[in-house]
Amino acid sequence: MFILGLQGSPRKGGNTDILLATFLEKAAAAGAAVQTIQVARAGITPCKGCGYCESHGTCVIADDPMAKQIFGLLRQADMVVAASPIYFYGASAQLKVLIDRCQTLWSRKYAFKLKDPLVATREGILLSVAASRGRQLFDGLQLTAKYFFDAIDARFSQALTYRGIEGKGAIRDQAGVAGDIDAIIEKSVRPLVARKGILFVSRQGACRAPLAAAMAQQRYGDRIRATFGALQPAATLSAPMRQMMQNLGVDLGYWQPAPLDDAMHGLRPDLVVTIGAAATEPPIAGVETVNWPIPAAPDADDAAEALRLTMATHVDGLIHWIEAPISRK
Ligand SMILES: Cc1cc2nc3c(=O)[nH]c(=O)nc-3n(C[C@H](O)[C@H](O)[C@H](O)COP(=O)(O)O)c2cc1C
Repeated sequence: MFILGLQGSPRKGGNTDILLATFLEKAAAAGAAVQTIQVARAGITPCKGCGYCESHGTCVIADDPMAKQIFGLLRQADMVVAASPIYFYGASAQLKVLIDRCQTLWSRKYAFKLKDPLVATREGILLSVAASRGRQLFDGLQLTAKYFFDAIDARFSQALTYRGIEGKGAIRDQAGVAGDIDAIIEKSVRPLVARKGILFVSRQGACRAPLAAAMAQQRYGDRIRATFGALQPAATLSAPMRQMMQNLGVDLGYWQPAPLDDAMHGLRPDLVVTIGAAATEPPIAGVETVNWPIPAAPDADDAAEALRLTMATHVDGLIHWIEAPISRK
């Protein structure tokens, strides 16, 4: 399970930073892989409001960290934790810049009618602090979070908000924070960590492995976490395969071929499926490995559809492994 934290305060080592780091430390101890984006220092370009994404499905700003890294991480995340101090009854401007750029994901979902393969299980958590104690203090941020999480195909499941937190580090003296976080870890993180992990491997990770991962994730929902890796990663996904899935309403837009080490964010899968003559030896030592002898498909539309049908039969066959008990040491 992979959790992406968005640290929205410009104050390094401040209350939001501490709160998010505490959450992610506890999540990591429960078995999650975690990563934090320090949003204020990420160099994200603000949305231009040009409307390009609503007609093209991609952002016209293609050369900043949002385009090159963060859209992809949002698509890989099983949980997104958005953390912000209250600034004038809303999100910090720094976090809002990231949120506004997600208009691209909103467009893919609502204008292009595409669904992310992880839509059924991705969760959104909000963390916030504020100095005063007003009754409506977090209402503005809650609304922004609601629509942000909806755009990134995450279910807004829980929020932890703390009033009367002002000086740098004051959150450390707030009673109950550790217990509040522990409750979210038990309710939301542990069930996602407990799913069986499957890593699909093909030579270039451009067509067969991502197709298998997307189909398995959709087919088995919250029972598994499927991902894919490559022995020699190609630069991009196969265009006919991506288009075929898009025609079926499945969004692989920000998926990229990745080396095996990156594919699971450092976690060990429970099963590795090598596809084609990918390797003579299991690519990850000590992990159960099976081979699906499916040859690479030519880069053509009809070949992509034939591959999908073959893959569906193999993905169906995974049910026996999914239903068998596993023991993790
Ligand atoms: C620009 C700015 C605007 C703020 N607006 C509010 C506000 O509207 N209501 C409030 O209670 N606190 C407000 N605060 C206080 C912060 O929310 C509070 O100090 C918080 O603990 C800072 O978190 P941090 O250490 O993570 O930056 C504001 C602080 C700043 C710098």
